[in-house]
Amino acid sequence: MVRLGHISDLHVSDRSRYPRNGFTARECEKHSARLAKGLLDALREVGVDHLVVTGDVTFSGESREFERVADLLRPFAEAGKLTVVPGNHDVWTEDAVETARFLRALGPDGRGMKKAAPSYPHVVPLGADAVLVALDSARYGDDPWTTPGRLGSEQLKAARELAREHAKQGRAVLLAFHHHVVLPPERVDSDAHVARMPLADADQVVRLVAEQPIAAVLHGHRHTAFRVDLPGAEGPTPVLCAGSASRVADEPVRRARAYVYEIDRSGVRSVEALVAGLE
Ligand SMILES: [Fe+2]
Ligand SMILES: [Fe+2]
Repeated sequence: MVRLGHISDLHVSDRSRYPRNGFTARECEKHSARLAKGLLDALREVGVDHLVVTGDVTFSGESREFERVADLLRPFAEAGKLTVVPGNHDVWTEDAVETARFLRALGPDGRGMKKAAPSYPHVVPLGADAVLVALDSARYGDDPWTTPGRLGSEQLKAARELAREHAKQGRAVLLAFHHHVVLPPERVDSDAHVARMPLADADQVVRLVAEQPIAAVLHGHRHTAFRVDLPGAEGPTPVLCAGSASRVADEPVRRARAYVYEIDRSGVRSVEALVAGLE
């Protein structure tokens, strides 16, 4: 049995530098790095074998924001227990993309890369029984408010082959990326913003899950926590959105949280939420 932590959408900002990149300073206040820090401390206390962070670690991809995130995640990175994927806010500006800020500051293992190089799919063994396949769905576009995410045919093909290969060896295969695959209909109205930034090839993920044994799909992007089951090759496949680990909110589904999954060869055995302020 392996214990995997999952947080997302930290949206770390430096309020004093806003307005910037289309955001007001007040919008920064929707997120609190202190809440995220509390959850990271709680994860270390309960003890996880690995932590996956599914993107939107910064508010608008600024260098200082990446530095602060790297500081927050350092204990997990230094222990070799961290996997990070980028979100759309981490590639919000042309600057952020051209200078490969995400990869240089963090990279797939949170330790940063001196020389930025294509890094996904990033495959991480979780003990002997499971494997995490981290994918990059963040795409830059001229209008970041309407730019969809995309995994692309190469990553999807690689994910399919990895799933087949590891499942053959009896391991549970978990996919992790930023964008949502499915929107629970009851949340669409209140999350209209994010509904304009879907995963363009979500249908290919649904197909992959239907055809290959995938134990779970982990993502963020929407700042609410939810679980949707997709029809999978070997039964219902959980698709888990961790919401935001820094959101300042009273609405129960929006409260900052971290998830802890217990995983064995047969898949996700349990899902536990650590909710900020309730520990
Ligand atoms: Fe986000
Ligand atoms: Fe996002």
